[in-house]
Amino acid sequence: MKVLLFGGAGYIGTHVALAFLERNDTVGIFDNLSSGLRSNIDDRCQFYEGDILNREQVREVLSQGWDAVVHLAAFKAAGESMLKPFKYSENNITGSLILITECIRAEVRNFILSSSAAVYGEPSYLPVDEKHPTNPTNYYGYTKLCIEENLKWYSQLKEFNYVALRYFNAAGYDQDGKMLGLENNPANLIPVVMEVAAGLRPNLLVFGRDYDTPDGTGVRDYVHVTDLAKGHLLAADYLLKNHKNLVVNLGSEAGLSVQQILDTTREITGKEVAAQYVERRPGDPAKLVASSKLAKKELGWEALHSSVESIVTSTWKVYQEQAKQD
Ligand code: WQD
Repeated sequence: MKVLLFGGAGYIGTHVALAFLERNDTVGIFDNLSSGLRSNIDDRCQFYEGDILNREQVREVLSQGWDAVVHLAAFKAAGESMLKPFKYSENNITGSLILITECIRAEVRNFILSSSAAVYGEPSYLPVDEKHPTNPTNYYGYTKLCIEENLKWYSQLKEFNYVALRYFNAAGYDQDGKMLGLENNPANLIPVVMEVAAGLRPNLLVFGRDYDTPDGTGVRDYVHVTDLAKGHLLAADYLLKNHKNLVVNLGSEAGLSVQQILDTTREITGKEVAAQYVERRPGDPAKLVASSKLAKKELGWEALHSSVESIVTSTWKVYQEQAKQD
């Protein structure tokens, strides 16, 4: 299979590229390197430097002929999306529409979207399945839902099918340490905790300790990026075989609290990992955990690497390397 990854030089994209390469698929990567790293790109990939907002560049790369594309080029920081909505509407919505329309023009009919649990907003029941109402509480989540809605329309109007993969909290690193690129100035819990453990940040601020959860801190569904990557291979196979649309959650179905992540990190790294308990972060739900039964049923997908030990150990391996170099 020939697959083109838009945003393939990023954290998720690098792992998705590795997964396709491991089964000898042909992988193209189109990335503007605004956050992705050139060093993340495996030599076996054909790299195209470009921006999804440049219609000519997108048209040119799609003219090379691809069986499927994966869209991983959206901006993903929920908090930032509330402060810089123009950046998110331009890149995530306008950019995605360029990708969708140019795929259709180039007769690339199989589109895999990196979507997000953020489309659900505050959960009204748990675990969250795909029938749960979609009421995003941040602009980032809305942009992902907007892209999904456009995919749905275009698949009705044109010969075009998609799979939307609603990631829960992506975490971890490739077990063999093939990907070493660290996110600059992360906001997500696990990279922040790891920066503290590696001495790159003074302490972790725990946003709230008074939630209705066993230890009072926020609970999330962390899913290993290796499991997520496998989901993209299965989605591509599903599209080429069935020519049908699918929207599925990719989550471990296990809830882990901030305190559990903190305690496990201290145990595995042997570091103190200073933490300060502060006010809740606005917009944070107490608990968000997936049902991934549909992904198992339709794609045969399972989260096999998503234990807290695997996530923390594989991440610490990469941050430890960084700490040694600093
Ligand atoms: C996890 C938990 C925080 C940082 C976000 C996006 C979502 C998706 C994943 C892309 C929460 C707590 C965090 C910190 C903390 N992104 N926390 N101190 O908010 O669940 O989801 O990233 O698809 O769309 O919304 O992830 O890692 O920010 O927070 O206490 O410094 O850790 O309160 O309970 P979140 P997160």
